[in-house]
Amino acid sequence: MEAKLIVGTLEQVEADAVAVVLFEEGEGIPGVKSWLDELRASGEFTGKPGEMSVLHQPQGFKAKRLVVVGGGKADKFDTSALRKAVGTVVRALKQKGVKKLAWMLAGGSAAASAEAAVEGAILGNYEPDMHKPSTEAKPLEVFDLVAAAKSPELEQAFQRGVILAESQNFTRDLANEPANKLTPQVLAERAAAMAHEYRLDCEVLDQDRMRQLGMGSLLGVAQGSDAAPALIVIRYQPANPTKPGDHLALIGKGVTFDSGGISIKPAEHMDQMKYDMCGGAAVIGAMRAIAQLKPPVAVTAFIPAVENMLNGRAQRPGDIVKSLSGKTIEVLNTDAEGRLILNDAITYAKKLGCTHLVDAATLTGAIVVALGHVNTGVFTNNDALLGRVMNAAKSEGEKMWHMPLDEDYKELLKSTFADLANIGGRWGGAISAAWFLKEFAEDTPWVHLDIAGTAYLDDAKPFMAKGPTGVAVRTFANLALSWA
Ligand code: BES
Ligand code: ZN
Ligand code: ZN
Repeated sequence: MEAKLIVGTLEQVEADAVAVVLFEEGEGIPGVKSWLDELRASGEFTGKPGEMSVLHQPQGFKAKRLVVVGGGKADKFDTSALRKAVGTVVRALKQKGVKKLAWMLAGGSAAASAEAAVEGAILGNYEPDMHKPSTEAKPLEVFDLVAAAKSPELEQAFQRGVILAESQNFTRDLANEPANKLTPQVLAERAAAMAHEYRLDCEVLDQDRMRQLGMGSLLGVAQGSDAAPALIVIRYQPANPTKPGDHLALIGKGVTFDSGGISIKPAEHMDQMKYDMCGGAAVIGAMRAIAQLKPPVAVTAFIPAVENMLNGRAQRPGDIVKSLSGKTIEVLNTDAEGRLILNDAITYAKKLGCTHLVDAATLTGAIVVALGHVNTGVFTNNDALLGRVMNAAKSEGEKMWHMPLDEDYKELLKSTFADLANIGGRWGGAISAAWFLKEFAEDTPWVHLDIAGTAYLDDAKPFMAKGPTGVAVRTFANLALSWA
């Protein structure tokens, strides 16, 4: 889809449809007042979020259709609501043969609105149809964002929105590939191709290299699969870093399929475990955005990529592995594999000199029990880094909730036979999983995002297709961009 920022008026803009937001207690539109009055009087349109009405061949307008979309209460209509409103209209209209949509940006709009609006359009236009040639989805071809006047600031924000949303869709494309198509090696190839396209440095550590280094924890998970593991490392170096000593690591869980291993999962919904690489995919998508938006801080991405399977060489419950950190781990449940691959990536990031660590992982079912599909669970050992991540998430409209990590939880991970057990019992499962990672982050500032509940949608939303959401891509990019 081609996305442009243009200057124009509601009456003059040419498109298959022109859309405008109306609020619950808002004004109408001068030229079509009677139509709107009737809609409001009949109760067909009250202005609630997500409501929509379409007038064909509106008198005095160049566009073929005039679309009004509810914005709810005007004072609650933030950039997050705008992103969703645009996505909702795009998803509704693309099913109706609309190829070119114009969206009226409210008068005197802030740059942040231009960014959110174009993001909503690009995200809403996305369909997971790469393996469905007979697709019924007909994407929009042109999205014009119509402003009253242009400024360099507005143009820059618009372009940033395009890059962020396209990178988020890149992540969704990776995550949508089923596990037979996207093995750890293929994920590494896709990451390397992206890095090459955007002039980033990419290195892929293979099994031999990881064995030499001593990544026994990661390799323990990988040994149950015929698919070879990979540790993908992507580097971005700014021309003029604002704080030359700072080096941000983005770490993403890349389990291309999680069967549970010998502690095998139930059959129901096991197909969804093709999404267990959404953290890794988010990190790769964020690097794609970072390469183009050029933040002032060095960023290195680490994606430990494995398949958690069960063959004759698979790791067993009770096995003890030695991690890169030197700590030994008793593997009491082979399904708690995310923390087993992430700890080696965290230690490796520290060894390479990273000063700030942020990871994203579909780590626990327990976080879904705690927060549902609304908020990502956030854990940290450092309030300053937490503040940065939460601010980034807020300005990108990605909901996140700070979870506790008190010392009292530490004893859950005690093992008689090794330094740590890889599970902490039934209660507070997302917290014991985070505590496990914290044992490896140690004193290095670290934030962990448990995205198990937010990385994919079980059903489509009005503004987004079913499947991977690409959560954390915008937050990661924003975090780097606002580093200063
Ligand atoms: N990949 C899963 C977590 C998950 C669950 C992601 C649901 C998305 C939706 C993870 O590897 C896992 O299996 N965790 C176990 C940990 C347990 C064995 C301590 C879990 O959450 O049940
Ligand atoms: Zn698992
Ligand atoms: Zn998993």
